[in-house]
Amino acid sequence: MARRKKIYEGKAKILYEGPEPGTFVQYFKDDATAFNAEKKATIEGKGVLNNRLSEFFMKGLGQIGVPTHFLKRLNMREQLIRQVEIIPLEVVVRNFAAGSMSTRLGLAEGTPLPRPIVEFCLKDDKLGDPLVSEEHIIAFGWASQQDLDDMIALALRVNDFMSGMMLAVGIKLVDFKIEIGRVWDNDFQRLIVADEISPDSCRLWDIETGQKLDKDVFRRDLGSLTDAYTEVARRLGVLPSNVTHATKPTPIN
Ligand code: TMP
Repeated sequence: MARRKKIYEGKAKILYEGPEPGTFVQYFKDDATAFNAEKKATIEGKGVLNNRLSEFFMKGLGQIGVPTHFLKRLNMREQLIRQVEIIPLEVVVRNFAAGSMSTRLGLAEGTPLPRPIVEFCLKDDKLGDPLVSEEHIIAFGWASQQDLDDMIALALRVNDFMSGMMLAVGIKLVDFKIEIGRVWDNDFQRLIVADEISPDSCRLWDIETGQKLDKDVFRRDLGSLTDAYTEVARRLGVLPSNVTHATKPTPIN
């Protein structure tokens, strides 16, 4: 059998050439990294959970009219996606202070924000994905003013959808990161949600107990990441049939 052409390998996913032009196959690895890959582990079952959860969120977004790259799930670890030109920015939306915002501004984690705040970080691992302003984005040509307006509108729609989905299962959406890509339909360009939406790229806290159900469990050594992601999947009714429960992360470096 011919090997598939690998297009790109990131920290948590691999992109392969898809079966038709304009498509890719996105493979979810079990690898977890934090702090710009200073901390690494393989967490059995994470890729399977994130494949299912990203499918669930992207499908739901599609159903309310928010365009995404998701086409269909192929198997436990792979999904067929639309090929996009990724805008080199991470779009972060925050509802409550946490993580780098808490550190930067001296706000206690969990402080409610007056309104959802959208931040942009330049996607550049060598620089540690620095926070950038809209001025930087326009001046350096990473995106146009129209793109920025569209990205903010998309990000806020994703925020409303994700906040509601999570609230329904007793989880607070503290913040999240998405990536956005360009697609062309004939000569018409539009922006769609790409990459993944999963507990790797969100902060999710149990509403009652405050228990963290996201990648902070790994970043901060708070217990089993698989158990946390399985709990999110279970509450949302997206549990895959044969996920193995990993106990301890296995170091890979
Ligand atoms: P931060 O507080 O570390 O800036 O993270 C904000 C949100 O973005 C949080 O939900 C985690 C997510 N995130 C990623 O998905 N990838 C990253 O590389 C980083 C730093 C954060």
